[in-house]
Amino acid sequence: MAKRSVVVMPGDGIGKVVLPEALRVLEAAGFDADWVEADIGWDFWISEGDPLPQRTIDLLTQHKAALFGAITSKPKDAAAAEIRTELRDAGHVYFSPIVGLRQHFDLDVSIRPCITFPGNPLNFIRRAADGGVDEPRVNAVIFRQNTEGLYGGVEWTNPPDQVWEALATHPKFTAFSEVPRPDLAVSTRIFTRGKCRRICEQAFAYAASHGYRSVTVCEKPNVIRETSGMMLDEARAVHEAYPQIQLWDTNIDAQMMWLTKNPEDYGVIVAGNMFGDIISDGFAGLVGGLGFAASANIGREVGVFEPTHGSAPKYAALSPSIVNPIAMILSAVMMLDWLGETEIAEKIRGAVAEVIVEGTVRTYDMLKLRGGPEAVAQGAATTTEMTDAVIGAL
Ligand code: NAI
Ligand code: MG
Repeated sequence: MAKRSVVVMPGDGIGKVVLPEALRVLEAAGFDADWVEADIGWDFWISEGDPLPQRTIDLLTQHKAALFGAITSKPKDAAAAEIRTELRDAGHVYFSPIVGLRQHFDLDVSIRPCITFPGNPLNFIRRAADGGVDEPRVNAVIFRQNTEGLYGGVEWTNPPDQVWEALATHPKFTAFSEVPRPDLAVSTRIFTRGKCRRICEQAFAYAASHGYRSVTVCEKPNVIRETSGMMLDEARAVHEAYPQIQLWDTNIDAQMMWLTKNPEDYGVIVAGNMFGDIISDGFAGLVGGLGFAASANIGREVGVFEPTHGSAPKYAALSPSIVNPIAMILSAVMMLDWLGETEIAEKIRGAVAEVIVEGTVRTYDMLKLRGGPEAVAQGAATTTEMTDAVIGAL
């Protein structure tokens, strides 16, 4: 087979730290590929007025699989203030390049596994009925619609006439019709049947192939009748082909409460963009938080794999680096699964599990230390030491 090629986009801050560590692990595990570096993030906003240059899009179009570290995003005004002087007033507007990638390549399926590693000191615990302590084994995989809904970007403050007039045709709009237009902000929540269908299909197919007994659709159809209702309808329709799997539905608010009560009850969870974002952070908090939270953004052709965390600027310049590389490593492992390299993927997952259960090498987050240069003297492993331990366990 021809040697694979993978686009590598470290991005900003600790993205530049953790991504090379993941590559070391992939190579040590026997995954042989050409790494094709691509530009993304804040540096390119400042120097070119474009955080997602066309050449990067071209590389992804060509190579299909990509690893992404993290980017720094700042609010509109702060972004405008930092752009190179010569580019000021040239009409450049900052946008999040990862959101840009999701939209450009229609990466409409986001997968976020939240699975307990035994021995992780950050695992969620709760008081048991007998007064003791329970450590439930969480094994939830969140399927989040990644391109539409409340994050679709169709929104206005001071909506134009046509929009206002269209809204005014809705009987419920009378409650807002006297509000001065500049005081009116509207963010739309657009769901489409095809996208709801696809995220539900992906969720059920995953549940079936990975032995999960339930798929939970987590929305709020009793209140948000049209959009959440469409997701629930599609989940029910897809469910017909999977009689062996149970379909549950929960409301996002109640789900957040149940999360800490009985997280072990949930398997695959499917939700729209915003609720999927919320629920996946909620579950990630039960299994170690940002140092462990991996994710995949998958379209029909292109897959981009990234840790959930951002660029953590306050840790970016620390030398040696202390951030936990596991989220990035596990994201790279999701790429291996997607590429069909399941054997190497399992090997790396096993090595990570071994390091965690063994417990001698722990990054500062695992030791519940304040992150800072003193963490290493307090016993925290550096980023490199954690990676070395994983490679050692391989
Ligand atoms: P962040 O995820 O970068 O960091 C928040 C905190 O989480 C850190 O201060 C640190 O305590 C902890 N943390 C994050 N990654 C860790 C790791 N690998 N190991 C150990 N601890 C870790 O979020 P924050 O500070 O809100 O945002 C910083 C920048 O990142 C912003 O510019 C934001 O826009 C951007 N961002 C980018 C994302 C992306 O690239 N997908 C996602 C989230 C934020
Ligand atoms: Mg989030």
